[in-house]
Formats: sequence, structure tokens, C-alpha cells
Amino acid sequence: MSGFSDKIIWITGASSGIGKALAIALSNQNAKLILSSRKNQELALVKKLCKNPNDVKIVTLDLEDYTNLQPKVDQAIAAFGKIDILVNNGGVSQRSFVKDTLISVDKRIMDINYLGTIALSKALLPHFIKNEKGHFVVTTSIVGKIGTPLRSSYAASKHALHGFFDSLRTEHYLDNIMVTLVCPGFVNTNVSKNALTGNGTPQQKMDTATANGIAPDRFAKLMAKAILNKKEEVYIAGAKEKLGVYVKRFYPKLFSKMIRKLSVT
Ligand SMILES: NC(=O)c1ccc[n+]([C@@H]2O[C@H](COP(=O)([O-])OP(=O)(O)OC[C@H]3O[C@@H](n4cnc5c(N)ncnc54)[C@H](OP(=O)(O)O)[C@@H]3O)[C@@H](O)[C@H]2O)c1
Repeated sequence: MSGFSDKIIWITGASSGIGKALAIALSNQNAKLILSSRKNQELALVKKLCKNPNDVKIVTLDLEDYTNLQPKVDQAIAAFGKIDILVNNGGVSQRSFVKDTLISVDKRIMDINYLGTIALSKALLPHFIKNEKGHFVVTTSIVGKIGTPLRSSYAASKHALHGFFDSLRTEHYLDNIMVTLVCPGFVNTNVSKNALTGNGTPQQKMDTATANGIAPDRFAKLMAKAILNKKEEVYIAGAKEKLGVYVKRFYPKLFSKMIRKLSVT
């Protein structure tokens, strides 16, 4: 018996990286899962890797299509009759300087990471209110707490999620609705390969820092623990990245100097 036994957990971005590893980790703890992303085939492969594939349903969706997510929410609720936890994990990163980034690319990153995530959450919120409980988990980033080169709109989208979900947490405290903001540092996934360059094409290259990042299965175990413990905000990252958050908070000018010297890929 684990804290996730028979919990019904909906994970976006479940076809790859952190979402895929989290799906496997939670299925090992006997959770019932709904897996979402754009790619049905990849999700079907993740389902097969889960401990109880019969307890895993797939709902394909595109977060960029954020005005049409209500039917996806209805489909996800219908899968098992209710949802206990929504893990808003799907997203896309960026590898381009401000001066080289088309405004359409800035918009796309905001649409997927911010508007897609909040549209899905807002569509599910009445279900949580009706059930008198619910838990939104959001994968933001260390870059949701600091700004670094090559990540302008990505950092903006992740900062925006903190603002939105901190407000939601306050508004719905009495409805027994919780929010956990998970801020990863570098995790060894396809995130840098899929990251958008200034003209909107994926970088298609693994960054060294990402390749040397935390293994997704280890990350997933720490993330599952944070969810179970109902943490409000957690940094799952290397020592340097975590230090950055605290230096920025307490010594913002020193942080600006440090980040200028840092070569961030
Ligand atoms: N890895 C890191 O170092 C790191 C650091 C900080 C934060 N993060 C965050 O962690 C989360 C997961 O990323 P990852 O590292 O696991 O990268 P990943 O391997 O590239 O996975 C990204 C996931 O998001 C989904 N996704 C992308 N665009 C989507 C869209 N328009 N609609 C629906 N789903 C979409 C992808 O699925 P499909 O392609 O099948 O749609 C995939 O499942 C992201 O929010 C990312 O920003 C990662």
C-alpha cells in the first residue's frame, strides 16, 4: 500500500522525459493514470512500460490549442470517473537570444507553457471544487525563479505559472485544493533537443548541461515524494542551480553579476 494507491493522476507531457519517468514511478505505486501529450504512439509505449497497463488511459491533446481543452478534460474525467491530481508537466524550452527570436516564437512558448497549462487547469477546477479536494502539480523550472541567457520567453512562461498558481492556491485553500510547484534544474531528457530556436525550429541538439543533468527516473522519485508530501514549492536541481535561486532572492545584484559570467547552454 502506498500513498498513491488507487489515486487517479493525470499527467501531461507523459510521452517523454520527466512525464514518462513519473508515469512509470507512480504506476509502480499503484496509481491509476491518464497520460497526455500530442503523440498517441509514444504514449502507448509509456502505457506498456507501466506496472498495470489496464489502469492507464490515454488522452491526446495539444496544449497550444488552449481554447479547445474542455472536451479533453471531460474525456479525462470520464476515463476513471474522477481525477485526484493533475500534473501539468508538458512544455517546450527555448535556445535563442531575445534579439534573434521571432515574436511568433515568444507567443508559441507562452501559448504552450502558460496558456495551455492554465486553460487545462481552469477547465478541471470545477471538478476539484465539486469533489471538495484536488491537487494541481506544475512542472515549472529553476528558470521560473531566475532569468538566464537564451531562455527569455521560456523563463517568462515559467515565472507566469508561479504567479498564477500561487494566486489559485490562495483562492482555493478552503476548497481543499492544493498546488505543488516543482522547479527542475537540468534533467537528462530531450528538452534541449526539442527547445525552440529563434525561428521556431527545434534545436535538435543535446546540450552538455542537460546531458549531465539528473537522471529522469531519479528526478521522478523525488518529484513523487514532493507530491505525496504536498509541498508548495520544491527545487529538484544541482547545488549550483539551487544556489542561484537563493542568491537571486537575497542578493539580487550579486546574482546579476554571477549570471553574466556564466555560460548557459
Ligand atoms: N529537462 C530539464 O532540464 C528541464 C528543466 C526545467 C524544466 N523542465 C520542464 O519539464 C517539463 C517536461 O520536460 P522534459 O524535460 O521531460 O522534456 P521532453 O522530453 O522534451 O518532454 C516534453 C513533454 O511535453 C510534451 N509537449 C510538448 N509540447 C506539447 C504540446 N504543445 N502539447 C502537449 N504536450 C506537449 C511532449 O510531448 P509530445 O511531443 O508528445 O506532445 C513531451 O511529453 C517541461 O515543462 C519542461 O519545461 C525540464
